[in-house]
Amino acid sequence: MITLSDLSALRTQIESWRRGGNVAFVPTMGNLHEGHLALVRAARKLADRVVVSIFVNPLQFGAGEDFDNYPRTMERDSSMLEGEGTDLLFAPSVAVMYPKPQEQQTRVEVPGLSSLLCGACRPGHFVGVSTVVCKLFNMVQPDIAVFGKKDFQQLMVIRRMVDDLAMPVRVVGAETVREADGLAMSSRNGYLSPDERRTAPILYRVLSGVATRLREGSDDYEGLQVQAARELEESGFTPDYVAIRRASDLQEPEADEKDLVVLAAANLGKARLIDNIDLSR
Ligand code: PAF
Repeated sequence: MITLSDLSALRTQIESWRRGGNVAFVPTMGNLHEGHLALVRAARKLADRVVVSIFVNPLQFGAGEDFDNYPRTMERDSSMLEGEGTDLLFAPSVAVMYPKPQEQQTRVEVPGLSSLLCGACRPGHFVGVSTVVCKLFNMVQPDIAVFGKKDFQQLMVIRRMVDDLAMPVRVVGAETVREADGLAMSSRNGYLSPDERRTAPILYRVLSGVATRLREGSDDYEGLQVQAARELEESGFTPDYVAIRRASDLQEPEADEKDLVVLAAANLGKARLIDNIDLSR
């Protein structure tokens, strides 16, 4: 595996690979777990070469969020990626990604989608995500990019950006990888105390309960959301939201909508956990 942090060396390498085949890309913020490795394996199946980036992106963290404490585990991540047959690890510094002061950085904004749900709770977050992903796409120039479906809203924002800006990248969503007890894998699970870790799978259980009611035909969206948020609170979470939305655009659904997704974000101790169940498939 080649490891690069410099843009011109990256461009030279990618250029030569693209002459003889295609390139799949998995952007990450590191602190890798099985969920990330599943993305790398999916990428491996789709292309001749696999590039993974590790960059903890300051632009997508709000004031008081966990940017400074976000776990940086480069050595371990690097050997995990090597074990999966990754061809190239791109690990730029903040100075390579953002040579100018942040307030002068050009930004990419996907309006509407970026200000709902997690975007409402974390103002500016999705502008940070779309900006860095756009920039990484321009640097890596992948044919295919793989993202996890756990970050349902993020995946939608990226698909919309690629579509609106006619980026020549095929965006592929990979299934959420779960622990045996149902908890969606996430780097932020590492913030949980042993007690909180035992509580955390309740998030998925509560969402599964809502999904069951919806599959049974309930369209009492408001009642289901309120009840689910109450169950989370009673278990020790501080929910940001539980929302039943139209899966195609995250808008509030009509009464007989079939294309639904149920999403939640909830704080447990120091961890902000998100999860979703997509009923549209
Ligand atoms: O999902 C993530 O890890 C990040 O939001 C991403 C897509 C790598 C952009 O920084």
